[in-house]
Amino acid sequence: MQSHREHDSQLGLGSPDIAILGAGAVGQLICHQLWASGISVGFLAREPSTHLWQTLSFSTTCSASPSTLAEQYRVPIIATDSDSLAKLRLLIVCVKAYQVMEAVTPFLETLPKDCHILLLHNGMGPHLALEPLLDGRGLSLGTTSQGVLRQSTWQITQTGQGLTQLGHFTGPELEIGLSKALIAAIPNSEWVEAIIPCLWQKLAVNAAINPLTAINQCTNGKLAEAQFSAMITDILDELHWVAEHDGILLDKSYLQQRVYQVIQLTAENFSSMHQDVAHKRRTEIDQINGYICERARVHNLSAPTNEKVWQQIKQLEAKY
Ligand code: PAF
Repeated sequence: MQSHREHDSQLGLGSPDIAILGAGAVGQLICHQLWASGISVGFLAREPSTHLWQTLSFSTTCSASPSTLAEQYRVPIIATDSDSLAKLRLLIVCVKAYQVMEAVTPFLETLPKDCHILLLHNGMGPHLALEPLLDGRGLSLGTTSQGVLRQSTWQITQTGQGLTQLGHFTGPELEIGLSKALIAAIPNSEWVEAIIPCLWQKLAVNAAINPLTAINQCTNGKLAEAQFSAMITDILDELHWVAEHDGILLDKSYLQQRVYQVIQLTAENFSSMHQDVAHKRRTEIDQINGYICERARVHNLSAPTNEKVWQQIKQLEAKY
């Protein structure tokens, strides 16, 4: 069954203020949340497109009244050569970390200089690569733990209502009206003063859980067993040490606590990296444990446990 609801303000009256680059599960979820709160939003086409609109379908299993009733709505598709590009005030980039530079760079010529960019992905690294190319634009970063499944190309189901944290990184700040609108639209979200420590904390969760579940072909919950505790502690100790050299002071016991809390809360789940390996897809290891090793190298440190799991995942990927 499907319901149909349309906001007249989004049907052709003016071009969108906000565009999303990357129409995967997270991109579609953010799109739905912005659309549902009345924000004018569209998807940026990565290739020349003749589509002016796209119909999307959203359902949820995690609201107060979960329902199989799918909500259908339409959003504009902004073509690469469209005049609408010049009117964008915010570009939200929701592609995988390893796709960010390839996806964003072609638009840097045409995007207005006052169009802010927000990166929302797992892992870290692209913010450092993008920073020198911003040409005066502001850059914000974010992390989301919302759970979402892509059922088919334009159909998603929200499965979890985790925390979303957004915050400023460099250049001009995002207009206050837009940051407030994002926080109002995305449930359980906050605009934080310092986003980099939040990203390191999320990195800690992914660095401990993702490679170990992929290497050992197990659920997240299995990592609660004593056999994994030394490995988890070493991954987190190295991350803590490297972050400190990057100027980010993290609380070691909080990191451990948070990792074990996620292991418990998602005990039945298979991590995204486990699924990537199982489906022979590229993983985000370079931007997770690989990022820790790269930052370690910058500071002449070593991070042997992160290096080991990084190489083990690379070996699994090489066998595809
Ligand atoms: O990448 C993932 O799978 C998730 O971020 C997490 C938190 C590890 C849970 O599975």
